[in-house]
Amino acid sequence: MWRPPERIRHDSRPARWPSTQEAALSRLFSPIQVGSIALRHRTWVPAMVPWRATEDGFVSQDVLEWYERFAQGRPAAIVVEATGIRDVPSGPLLRIGDERFLPGLKQLVEVVRRASEGETRLFIQLIDFLSIRRRPDPARYFAEYLGLTERHRRAFGAAEAGGAVGANDAEIRSWLASLERNDLEKVLDIRELESLDHGARERVTDMHLGHIRDLPRQLPGLFGGAARRAREAGFDGVELHYAHAYTMACFLSPHNTRGDGYGGGVAERARLPLEVYEQVRADVGAGFPVGCRFLAEECVSGGGSIDDAEYFACAFAKAGMDFLSLSRGGKFDDAQQPKVGAAAYPYTGRSGYECMPSYFSDAQGPFGRNLGATARIHAALRAANCNTPLIAAGGIHNFEQAEAVLASGQADIVAIARQALADPDWFTKVRNGRGAQVRLCIYTNYCEALDQRHRQVTCELWDRDALDESGVRRSADGKRRLIAPKWS
Ligand SMILES: Cc1cc2nc3c(=O)[nH]c(=O)nc-3n(C[C@H](O)[C@H](O)[C@H](O)COP(=O)(O)O)c2cc1C
Ligand code: SF4
Repeated sequence: MWRPPERIRHDSRPARWPSTQEAALSRLFSPIQVGSIALRHRTWVPAMVPWRATEDGFVSQDVLEWYERFAQGRPAAIVVEATGIRDVPSGPLLRIGDERFLPGLKQLVEVVRRASEGETRLFIQLIDFLSIRRRPDPARYFAEYLGLTERHRRAFGAAEAGGAVGANDAEIRSWLASLERNDLEKVLDIRELESLDHGARERVTDMHLGHIRDLPRQLPGLFGGAARRAREAGFDGVELHYAHAYTMACFLSPHNTRGDGYGGGVAERARLPLEVYEQVRADVGAGFPVGCRFLAEECVSGGGSIDDAEYFACAFAKAGMDFLSLSRGGKFDDAQQPKVGAAAYPYTGRSGYECMPSYFSDAQGPFGRNLGATARIHAALRAANCNTPLIAAGGIHNFEQAEAVLASGQADIVAIARQALADPDWFTKVRNGRGAQVRLCIYTNYCEALDQRHRQVTCELWDRDALDESGVRRSADGKRRLIAPKWS
């Protein structure tokens, strides 16, 4: 993963933990309304993919236990990991693209209700993503994957056949494979070079592809169907994933230059996300909470700015969304080159660092990097007379930070991701004057490295603890426990 060159070490701070009475009077533990439902307080565990679904995208026993463990800590809300809205193979990522996924999802809702005694509200994040291929072995790329065009034929003719064209494909392919890098860069276009160096990746601007051209016709129905299933499964609401490197975020990005009315200016870029929301609302009805997660800033060259995000926030709020959750960065544009045979991962570049900053950082540090942008977006919402709750995230691990976010009006709800993974009991401990017993996240991104390799996500602070305890479920390699030990 990319790291700021400064490499200044920042340690998590417990700061001052509140007494039970102080917590009871705090903003953090005060209730808030999200659409038609009341959250008992303003704590939120945002989506985190733990790579525990079955290969077919069903809820597994490991998924149930993962969310059960979070629910035992009783945050006000948990958002279930990014869950695919299409009925297509996508490895051990949860899916909700068909009715057959419903029994498992219903069980998940029941487990969370039981474990939190009804205190934790459960949302599910709905995601669509475009196809991305693994970085190819160059020999295979030239032999099989590269689509030969007239440009390649002409270049071959000019270089090898005295300007004559008409060579067979095999000759052209082996000639391309033999070229030095400098010469190759003159023959292949930018997308072909990207496919060679990183693996082919679809974009929302690939208008020559029928299924990409058709996204505005397909996606509203797909999201709508998924949201209806989520309501049927018993979830308290849905979060539309409009953030990071995925389809909807790409529609919102200034890099979306589609000429069909769904790209270009900020209003055109917001058009499909709004149409998706309208269809979802039509499918789930007025009383079911629907919100989205989107980027306060894309953090890539020429990417979405805070000004864009202010516009989107107001547009989404005015359309009727019940909550807005902000994230940051996490784009493919600046992802590091994967190894041959591996796929690019959107959290490996600078924008990835902005999304999940680690303890070696710049002077600003990893704690609250998105808060400046979040505060501006919050102010823009209020200036537009929108009271839609705004959720802040990023490096929040102690009570004083969380309380300050609310006291200063930067946001209305505080999301705690890696800290909740490090200690799912954070919420109960802090609320009950036991903050001193919190296992503080140290922001090493060990969990994130596992996520990157699609391995079962755990935390290094507890995954080797009491491994021999009876009933402890272990990771596939048998070396790590899969859920945090019980707090006694
Ligand atoms: C293992 C892991 C998986 C994640 N998966 C998702 C996801 O599915 N959807 C999403 O919007 N964010 C995802 N995130 C980002 C977090 O929700 C959160 O925005 C980020 O970790 C910053 O918050 P934190 O500093 O409190 O961890 C993931 C983060 C981690 C560590
Ligand atoms: S592995 Fe644990 S301590 Fe390290 S960043 Fe993840 S949650 Fe925090």
